[in-house]
Amino acid sequence: MSLTDHNIASRLLEWFDVSGRHDLPWQQNPTPYRVWVSEIMLQQTQVSTVIDYYTRFMQKFDSVQALAAAPQDEVLHLWTGLGYYARARNMHKTARHVVEQYEGRFPTTAEGLVALPGIGRSTAGAILSLSMSTREPILDGNVKRVLARHYKVAGWPGKSDVLNTLWECAELTTPHERVAHYTQAIMDLGATLCTRSKPACEQCPLRDTCLALHEGIPTDYPGKKPRKARPRREACMLLVVRNGNVLLQQRPASGLWGGLWGLPETLANETPEDAADRLGLACDPPETLPDHLHTFSHFQLNISPVRLKVIQEADAVMDDAGSLWYNIARPAQVGLAAPVVKLLDLYCKQDS
Ligand code: ADE
Repeated sequence: MSLTDHNIASRLLEWFDVSGRHDLPWQQNPTPYRVWVSEIMLQQTQVSTVIDYYTRFMQKFDSVQALAAAPQDEVLHLWTGLGYYARARNMHKTARHVVEQYEGRFPTTAEGLVALPGIGRSTAGAILSLSMSTREPILDGNVKRVLARHYKVAGWPGKSDVLNTLWECAELTTPHERVAHYTQAIMDLGATLCTRSKPACEQCPLRDTCLALHEGIPTDYPGKKPRKARPRREACMLLVVRNGNVLLQQRPASGLWGGLWGLPETLANETPEDAADRLGLACDPPETLPDHLHTFSHFQLNISPVRLKVIQEADAVMDDAGSLWYNIARPAQVGLAAPVVKLLDLYCKQDS
């Protein structure tokens, strides 16, 4: 692919001067140590959450030496609530390494930085560009989105060919002048205008050359992670009908539809007739209804519904706490599992 930089940097810098973020705590006195701490905190956490943690962290550990000298518990304590605690443990390790091996000075090359625990290529680029004005590209989530849209890079960035193309774009667009401002600017654009689901393209300084805007749909970029085929499970659900009532059973508190009321199901290798016997019900021959596919985030459930009309009129059947004769015309106020609503609507209206 041949790429042109389309003066991205100059337009972004002009925009940044007026509309970018200039008051974030890590932008003040941006030493390698201060930028490194902020980048690690910002890896999986929003700016608004990080600000207070960052301020407290810097009050306690104002240098890499102070951090290296602290017990790990103290570091983890200051991290409490930020999550992803491996970040804190790696930071502490890296601080000790920098003090012991590098006399307290961070490496000044990307190769040197990525050799340290918890620092990847983009974090290395951010440290070098923001604190040392070294021309190194970054490619965090926000930047991937801006570049994938501007250059209409299709595919999911988790795939190495897509990622490599985005790094090429990042290298191309990173300027030789004002690299620290540029780095902050492209992150700010991604965070404020070129957002994931509702980009404000009309305000974007890059709109004139954005290929996704002119030749496609910006929100189609970057491509999403391909979904794995969901495994399929089977369930035979029984619509046991008696005098306008349908038999429901409360589901176990945890698991699928936990605590809601669902239809009785056949057990493994059990026929609907066997299930009726097990439930103590005398029924007409079972009536097989069409299958329904119910989709969950991680699997699909193929439901084979079977209608069973109860013959006997014994009042005492299924009177235990976990069972309920649900009156279709005058429904009880209980939580229903999704397929109950659908199957009652489709197949039991006439029984009410
Ligand atoms: N996310 C990662 N680095 C950032 C920075 N320097 N400013 C704002 N958000 C960021």
